[in-house]
Amino acid sequence: MRKKLIAGNWKMNKTINEALLFVNQLIPLVKDTDAEVVICPTSLCLSDVARAVTNTNIKIGAQNMYYKESGAFTGEISPRSLTEIGIEYVILGHSERRQYFKESNDDVNKKVISALNIGLMPILCVGETLEERASGKAFDIINKQMSECLQGIESLRLDGLVIAYEPIWAIGTGKTATKEDANEIIAYIRKLISEKLGGSIAENIRILYGGSVKSSNIKELMEMSDIDGALVGGASLDSVEFSEIVKY
Ligand code: PGA
Repeated sequence: MRKKLIAGNWKMNKTINEALLFVNQLIPLVKDTDAEVVICPTSLCLSDVARAVTNTNIKIGAQNMYYKESGAFTGEISPRSLTEIGIEYVILGHSERRQYFKESNDDVNKKVISALNIGLMPILCVGETLEERASGKAFDIINKQMSECLQGIESLRLDGLVIAYEPIWAIGTGKTATKEDANEIIAYIRKLISEKLGGSIAENIRILYGGSVKSSNIKELMEMSDIDGALVGGASLDSVEFSEIVKY
């Protein structure tokens, strides 16, 4: 049985003080939930927020990291520093990183390998643009992203790997994929994992949906057979709204 996972991606929002206020409001609201709850604040907030959720059921993820553990890489985030402060998850290959910071599947692949090696659980994002969907290429794009981003990981410990299917046209636009469309692609991703890594890994890996998830549409998405949770952007910025998503 795959444990449901609801992760909030704050993107470049909230200062340290705002982040601490948020988590102190959220802790009592989600303390009895069955789902796994993850918050991904900005990198500057990580340390304080991680300390604030000690001994609660909330886990913390980073939004990005570099694939090298240390060295002359000005401005980058070291995976080793993340594990040192108790970070468990890391979002990799988010479409905003791909679009604005030109991250390629190859870059994402190096980061996935590095994260798994150091014991961080990657939340690997894949998803197609509107044009790709309209021209019938969604499945091909997902196939390419999955195979290039997961190249060479067969021999690594994969129990922590999470995939997030985020159609780019649904991110921050208020347009959610229909639950059937989301489930169809997510089932396809599971099939690709089964072919590459075997049936039992595919059965256990959690695959999230992301793109304009809110408290009013989470329940129907979560009723679908292959959707194991959500990666929530805008609606994760309000503690009450986010807690309602967690407790769908
Ligand atoms: P959204 O963002 O919920 O605001 O659409 C999702 C994401 O980018 O992870």
